Amino acid sequence: MLVFNKKTEFSDLTYESFAAICKACTKCALHETRTQVVVGTGPVPCDVMVIGEGPGEQEDLHGKPFIGKAGQLLTKIFESAGIERETQVYITNTVKCRPPKNRTPFASEMEACKPYLIRQIQLVQPKILILLGAPSLRDVLEESLPISKVRGQWYKVPVDYMTEPFYIMPMLHPSYLLRKQSKEKGSPKWLTLQDMLEVKTTMGFYKTL
Ligand code: URA
Repeated sequence: MLVFNKKTEFSDLTYESFAAICKACTKCALHETRTQVVVGTGPVPCDVMVIGEGPGEQEDLHGKPFIGKAGQLLTKIFESAGIERETQVYITNTVKCRPPKNRTPFASEMEACKPYLIRQIQLVQPKILILLGAPSLRDVLEESLPISKVRGQWYKVPVDYMTEPFYIMPMLHPSYLLRKQSKEKGSPKWLTLQDMLEVKTTMGFYKTL
């Protein structure tokens, strides 16, 4: 499991300074092919944080995560579960620069980007973390678990910024869902909506504390 409290070179930075340094990053070769760094969007702090895989073409062009087709589907899933993306979710990725041809980020690239992700989590202070797809699952849980087996399960992790445990849920990646038409009960899209409804319920639980 990622050590959320870990001290990194960015530990003392405010969100603005962190984002400025991140935008100029040259830690791995992805900086050579990117148009721009996609740091993340959403309120800081924020109760719900999403970690996707890496920016795609649209994200690289516009500097915002999940704005292409997969992102539009993600927004719809949030809406269907009664969650407002703009105001209630902070969204980022395991790597902040687009991998060429949208390939899966290399382990070395995710490793180079990890201090940014750790600082981002420390600044956003989410109560619920959604991991979209296998690379994100691997990056945060640091285990090779099949996403189809663990999606929809809560992982509860103690963190020092709150007394209740931190809730982590792996979910299917919206790019995968785009390739699945069915919305029937038991289909990947249906399962993901159930997972998001579970997130919505847990958001309510935190409000009552
Ligand atoms: N897919 C991702 O994993 N992240 C994005 O930002 C866009 C598509």
